[in-house]
Amino acid sequence: MIPKLALRPGTFPRTGILLAAVLASCGGSALAADINKGGTLYATHCAACHGANGTPVMPGTPNFRRMESLMKPDMQLLTVIRNGKGVMPGYFGVLRDREILDVVAYLRTLS
Ligand code: HEC
Repeated sequence: MIPKLALRPGTFPRTGILLAAVLASCGGSALAADINKGGTLYATHCAACHGANGTPVMPGTPNFRRMESLMKPDMQLLTVIRNGKGVMPGYFGVLRDREILDVVAYLRTLS
């Protein structure tokens, strides 16, 4: 749909504006982590141990309600979640990096 519009800019007058709007909305969602999506993924994959709202269910699990549990930068958390840690399974091959970053963005809303 985008290439077609781009190839025929004269097709109708608002094409330029439309195209700009489409590109802006795509660009935005491609760059920013999606907290809602992260929340859904969290509920599916993480809540069993980490608790629905970040209060640990399983002993030894960090409390995401406390900011101190998420002091590491996103990329470091991504690596831990990808590879697993202790009893926590790794999510490489289960979640894409993008999805893990969505979950991390969600985790940061819990404290
Ligand atoms: C089987 C239970 C279990 C599941 C499922 C689980 N975790 Fe964990 N998680 C743990 C435990 C236990 C730890 C503490 C590990 C340690 O320090 O040895 C932990 C630690 C963490 C940490 C802290 C890592 C660090 O180095 O500070 C993060 C972040 C985390 N989990 C995120 C997630 C996310 C996101 C998911 C879902 C995609 C998830 N966990 C799924 C049990 C689990």
